[in-house]
Order: sequence, then C-alpha cells, then structure tokens
Amino acid sequence: MRVIESPSGFARALDTERSFGRRVGLVPTMGALHEGHRSLIERASTETDVVAVTLFVNPLQFSDSSDLAAYPRDLEGDVAKAEAAGASIVFAPSVQDMYPGYPALPSISVNVRGVSEGLEGASRPGHFDGVATVVAKLFNLAGRCSAYFGEKDFQQLAVVRTLVEELCIPVEVVACPTVREPDGLAMSSRNVRLTTSERQAALALHRALDLALGALESGEEDLDVVRGLMREEMSAEPMVLCDYAEVVDARTLCPASEAAGELRLLVAAGVGPVRLIDNEGIVLVTNPPAAQAEPTVRGQRLVPAGT
Ligand code: PAJ
Repeated sequence: MRVIESPSGFARALDTERSFGRRVGLVPTMGALHEGHRSLIERASTETDVVAVTLFVNPLQFSDSSDLAAYPRDLEGDVAKAEAAGASIVFAPSVQDMYPGYPALPSISVNVRGVSEGLEGASRPGHFDGVATVVAKLFNLAGRCSAYFGEKDFQQLAVVRTLVEELCIPVEVVACPTVREPDGLAMSSRNVRLTTSERQAALALHRALDLALGALESGEEDLDVVRGLMREEMSAEPMVLCDYAEVVDARTLCPASEAAGELRLLVAAGVGPVRLIDNEGIVLVTNPPAAQAEPTVRGQRLVPAGT
C-alpha cells in the first residue's frame, strides 16, 4: 500500500500504472470508511487493475463549520480498511496541498447548473460547487480511469455525471448501490454521531421510502400522495426533522408529475446533530412486455404503471 500526500506524486503514480497497461479504479471519499465505501473499493478492484482511494475532507463542500470540525477522521484505520478491500494506493492530501492559500477560496469554482439546484442544493447552498470543484481536481490528477460513486448520494452522482459529460473528462463514472445496516439504515460516516435513540429514530427515513415504494407498487398514481406519505412517516418520529420528501425524474432530478418512467424517491432530515439523506429508485413501465413485468430488486424495480 502506498500512501501519497502530494497531488503531483499521486498523478505520477497513476500515470506509471497506466504506462504498464493497468486500468485504474478511483474511489473518492472523505474517509471514515465504512461498509458502503468498502463496497465501492471492492467493486473497483474486481473491475480494474489498480485501485486508488482518495481520503480528503473537502472544506469547500461544508457550509457549516461545526459539521466540518465534527467530521470523523481516522487516517490509519482508513488506510488499513482501504487495503483490506483491495486498494493499493491511498491519496491523502492536506487542505493546503489541495487548496494552496486556504482559507482563501481557490480562484475557480465549478458550478453544475440544473441537477445541483434542488433538493440538497437548495438546503445546502454551495455544497455541490464544493463537490464538483474537488471532484474535477481529483479527476484531473487521476487521469483516465473508472471512478466509483455510491447511489446513496444520488444527486451527487448526477452532478458528477454531468461534470464528466460536459467537460469531456476521460473518466467512466460507475454507480454502486446503497449499502445498508441490517435494519435498513443507509450507512453513512455521520451515523457514528447519532445516540442510540437518534439511531432508532433515523430508521424513519428508510421506512418512509419503503412505504412510498409500496404505494407506487400498489398503483398509487398521485405523486403528491406519495410525497405526503413519506413526509408523514418521518414527521411521526419526534426526533426527525423532515427537510424534503420528493419524487423526481431519475435523470433530470426535476419533480416528477406522473407515476411513470424511471423515478427516484429522495428524503432528507435532521436527526439530532446530523443531517441524513436516503433514496430509492423505481421504474414504472406503462406497457411492459411480459418478460419485463416481473418486479426486480429494490432500487431498480420494474412495476407496471397504474396497476
Ligand atoms: P463520502 O461521503 O466519504 O462518500 C464517498 C463515496 O461513498 C460516495 O460516492 C458515496 O456516495 C459513497 N457512499 C457513502 N455511503 C454509502 C453507502 N451507504 N452505500 C454505498 N455508497 C456509499 O461523497 C463524498 O464522500 C464526497 O462528497 C466526495 C465525492 C468524496 C467529494 O468530496
């Protein structure tokens, strides 16, 4: 395992790997690695020849300085976990390495219009500019590679896809399914900050998504009813402060107006000191060919619309 701090050293290491004909897999993270990150690293190591994990708590994507300060950090533990999951390079730069002059802001900020604007973008102004800026920088350093991102952060995935497409960055973006605790809570580095009762209350997010999926599968066609179901389920939990409960078109992330096509259900809520997000996908087909009518795994279920 090589742990590299300097951006130029990281770029050189990956250039060398490619010069030997090896395919590079990149897993950008902010550290505090958990099973969700592990699934990305493992997937990258089955699909590429050399996997690089980046560990960098990016200050540009935090608007709340207490959230940034409280973000868990464990370099030694993360290096061991990354290695165990199949990575052979860790890039762990300092803030000064990435943003010389920080706390002065870098001269360039990458803004991805459209997909960054609603949902998390509305509640966390500037967040996706920070994400797009650091990801653009990491991609430029890494060079041609496949980069693995979790569907857990569905809007981030859309932002990164748009960034790559519109700036012609030679990176293949690979989406990986959300890894959950056995009781359904989506894994997140922030979960460690929940007390036992907050942790229990946080399950309302997953329950809300489940209810909504169930309603759509049973033929509910009014998406405002579906949104209301999710909101009510979360609001019934006194420790959960619902921010949004949306049903959107999975491609544009615009609020969906009809129960048809590829939809994404997204929820966000404050639980104690932590902001949690979660989402699920569903595909509602209007006239399914017989072979497609079978429901598939959650996250990509195919359900005949209006049945
Ligand atoms: P971080 O929150 O550390 O997440 C790193 C990657 O792990 C992201 O692609 C995220 O979607 C994925 N991930 C997190 N929890 C997951 C889960 N339960 N199941 C599957 N994948 C999961 O996302 C970031 O860091 C940053 O914004 C970053 C992209 C690194 C830019 O700073």
